[in-house]
Amino acid sequence: MSSNEHSSQLDQNPDTKPETLGHTRAVATSLQHPSYEPPAGFDAVQPATHRASTVIFPSVAAMRSRDWRHKNGYTYGLHGTPTTFTLEARLAAIEGARHCMLCPSGLSAIALVDLALVAQGEAVMLPSNVYGPSRELAERLLTGWGITVQIYDPLDVVAARAAITQHTRLMWLEAPGSVTMEMPDLRALIKLAREHGVITALDNTWAAGIALKPFDLGVDIAMQALTKYQSGGADVLMGAVMTRGDALHERLLYAHMRLGLGVGGDDASLILRGLHSLALRYGAHDASARRIAAWLQTRPEVQTVLHPALPGSPGHANWVRDCSAAAGLFSFTFRPWVNAAQVDAFVDALRLFKIGYSWGGPLSLVVPYDMGATRGDAWAHGSPLVRLSIGLEDPDDLIADIAQAIRACLR
Ligand SMILES: Cc1ncc(COP(=O)(O)O)c(C=O)c1O
Repeated sequence: MSSNEHSSQLDQNPDTKPETLGHTRAVATSLQHPSYEPPAGFDAVQPATHRASTVIFPSVAAMRSRDWRHKNGYTYGLHGTPTTFTLEARLAAIEGARHCMLCPSGLSAIALVDLALVAQGEAVMLPSNVYGPSRELAERLLTGWGITVQIYDPLDVVAARAAITQHTRLMWLEAPGSVTMEMPDLRALIKLAREHGVITALDNTWAAGIALKPFDLGVDIAMQALTKYQSGGADVLMGAVMTRGDALHERLLYAHMRLGLGVGGDDASLILRGLHSLALRYGAHDASARRIAAWLQTRPEVQTVLHPALPGSPGHANWVRDCSAAAGLFSFTFRPWVNAAQVDAFVDALRLFKIGYSWGGPLSLVVPYDMGATRGDAWAHGSPLVRLSIGLEDPDDLIADIAQAIRACLR
C-alpha cells in the first residue's frame, strides 16, 4: 500500500473537515477540532508522520465494517497507522516477504515468534550462538511454561537432525551468530526442518534485507532488529517479523494483537527515513569492516579474526554460496599470551571505537566478551573475544586507533 493511498483514505474522512455547530465553540472544543486541511499538492519525499492511539470512525457502520486484521482501514493506533503500514510495506518489499509486522524492539519481535508458535509440551530449537537475550527468554521464560528448549550447534547439521523430536515446532536460525560470527548452512537446516514439519525463523538482522534473501532459501519467517542498519542512527528501537505464508502470518498477527506490540509513528518515521540510505551505508560498513579485518589478520598479537567473508572463518563456504555482501560486524581474539586484563585495557584505550552494545549505527563500537563463561568448552578460539561494529568513520582512522591501543596496552 502506498502512502498516497493512505492519505487519500484520510482525506475522505468527513470528521477531518471543518464544520459549524450553529454557535461559537468554546476554546476547549476548538483546540480539539482545528479546521485543518492537509496541504494540497504536497507530494513530499518522506511520508507524513501519523500519531494515533484513537482513530475516529465517521459512523457506527464504518466502525463495524473495519477489520484490524486486514490492514485496509484504520481502527486503533496499536493496529497500525498510515506511517506504520507504509513502513511495513516497504520492509516486506525489500525482504521479499508478503507480510510484515512491526514490534517495539528486535527482542520483542523474537518473543512474538516464540509466543505465537510454541505451546506447552512443545519444543523450540535455538543455535548455540544465538543472540543472548533470545536464549535467556527461552531458557528462563519458555521453560517455565512447559516448553522444551533444544540448543544445537549451528555448524553441525547431523547433530541438529538428532536433536529434533516429534514435539519440535520451531527452529531458530541466526546467520551469522552476532558475536561469534559462524555462518550456518541455512539450506541444509531449512531442508531438515521442512522434512520434520518444523517452522523456521531466521534472525536476519545482520543481512538487513541486503546481504541475504531468506525467502529464496525457503525460510518461513524472517525477523529483523530494525534498531541496527535500517535505523542507522543508533537512536531507535524496533523489530519486524516478515512472512510469505498467509496462514502463518495470521497466527503471528493474532499474537501481535494480543500482546499489544504496537510502534509509534515518530519511530516508524525515523526508520522510513533511514531506509533511503540503507544500501549505501551497508556497503560502506561492509567495505570498511573487511579492510580492518584483513589488517587485523596481519597483526602478530591477533590469533583469529571471525568474519564470515574471510576464508577460514567458520562457515565461510556458506557465506560464499548464500550471501552477496557482509555487514560491518566482526570479532577477533588475541594470542594466548594476551591476558584478560590486557584485553580490557586495550578496549579502554580505543578512542574512536566507543564501548557500547548494538551495531549498525554511525559510530564504531567495541565490546569484549568472556566466551569461556558463555560457551565453556565448546569455544575453541581462546577467550576473551573482542567484537567490533564498524561505523561510518574513515577505515584508516579506525586502523590507526586500533594500532595505538595495541601499542599502549600489549607491548
Ligand atoms: C542478532 C540480534 N537480534 C536481535 C537483537 C535485538 O534487537 P533490539 O536491541 O532491538 O531488541 C539484537 C540486538 O543486539 C541482535 O544483535
